[in-house]
Amino acid sequence: MISAAVTNPDLSLLQPYPFEKIRQLLACCDVSSHARIALSVGEPKHAAPSFVHDALLASLPDLEKYPTTTGTTALRESIAQWLSKRFHLPHPADSLAEAHVLPVSGTREALFAIAQCLLDRTQNERDVLMPNPFYQIYEGATLLAGCKPAFYAIDDNTDENLAAIPDSALESAQMLYLCNPGNPTGAVASKQALMALIERARRHNVIVVSDECYSEIYREEAGPPVGLLEAAASAGLDDFSGCLAFHSLSKRSNLPGLRSGFVAGDANLIRSFTQYRTYHGCTLPLPTQAASAVAWADEDHVKANRAAYDAKYEAVLPILKTVMTVQKPDAGFYLWPTLHCDDKLATQKLHAEENVAVVPGSYLAREVDGSNPGQQRIRLALVAPLAECEEAAHRIARCLA
Ligand SMILES: Cc1ncc(COP(=O)(O)O)c(C=O)c1O
Repeated sequence: MISAAVTNPDLSLLQPYPFEKIRQLLACCDVSSHARIALSVGEPKHAAPSFVHDALLASLPDLEKYPTTTGTTALRESIAQWLSKRFHLPHPADSLAEAHVLPVSGTREALFAIAQCLLDRTQNERDVLMPNPFYQIYEGATLLAGCKPAFYAIDDNTDENLAAIPDSALESAQMLYLCNPGNPTGAVASKQALMALIERARRHNVIVVSDECYSEIYREEAGPPVGLLEAAASAGLDDFSGCLAFHSLSKRSNLPGLRSGFVAGDANLIRSFTQYRTYHGCTLPLPTQAASAVAWADEDHVKANRAAYDAKYEAVLPILKTVMTVQKPDAGFYLWPTLHCDDKLATQKLHAEENVAVVPGSYLAREVDGSNPGQQRIRLALVAPLAECEEAAHRIARCLA
């Protein structure tokens, strides 16, 4: 038997995941007899395009082969073409595919693995900057890489938030996680703000890791968010030096179970990550790659997806506004309202009286200087069908009135 003394002591630094905390929070509450509506987990529920299923099935015989770490040329080219068009990159797609793109098994594992690959634990006095509130993987990845998380505040104005990161924080950092569009805020950074961040990060030798997994779920009227690589190219950084952007099919194409995304950017960092992943071993099965290649090549289903989310925002916002301060975000599929009461109490009450599942804001953030920016906020994921989202909004309004 292996004694507990030889397990990795850093595991004890990990915080329980928000959904684990919610289970504990609700364990003592009775639940109402209404049918459950879950606005808690950010798992897309719209249908995935059928041509993706077809490509997956057609490629099933390829399960007899080992996939490579770099992925198939067909997938890297499809990604490169999408990337180049979507973010107006001046690079020919084949040069992007060759050196700047690497398929990953969804952004979650890649955002975690990049920290293990790039962070220097012998310089662990140099922090990893991350937004607060945040996606908790950034913190766990940092801790398991033997480094220290440091937070920068995020609210509805990403440009101001990024400008407010002091030079001293960048000076003592190795890497910075950016979530753009933000989860849970849905806020989007402008190109100018991203260019300024890149310039400052370069001055302080900080790698910028941009989690852009919500970049395609924008409000149609707001237009597409700018990405980190687009800002880098506009700043004249054609080699994307020090910049990595992470994208996913989970939200864009309603394929969270496919586990497919990519990282793109600085060729040297991509090369190191490829080397790391040769050992890490998270290669995408060939049918997954075939399905992903056709998904990145189509925009019609993505546009329809956005329209479905837009319709939900139109339906629920007028109802929710009667009991909370809430605004339509520029992107993503969340609402991040401010309540007139405690977020954990509201979560319990919504569960007990209405069987509506939400996430208390304080579980998505860390207390800094005595205050938790998620307090008195909840996160609502508009993933359920329109009628259910509308019904949930009525129940929330009734419950929190
Ligand atoms: C901000 C953020 N980043 C990354 C992910 C991971 O997405 P996936 O691994 O499905 O690409 C999520 C999932 O909800 C997320 O909210």
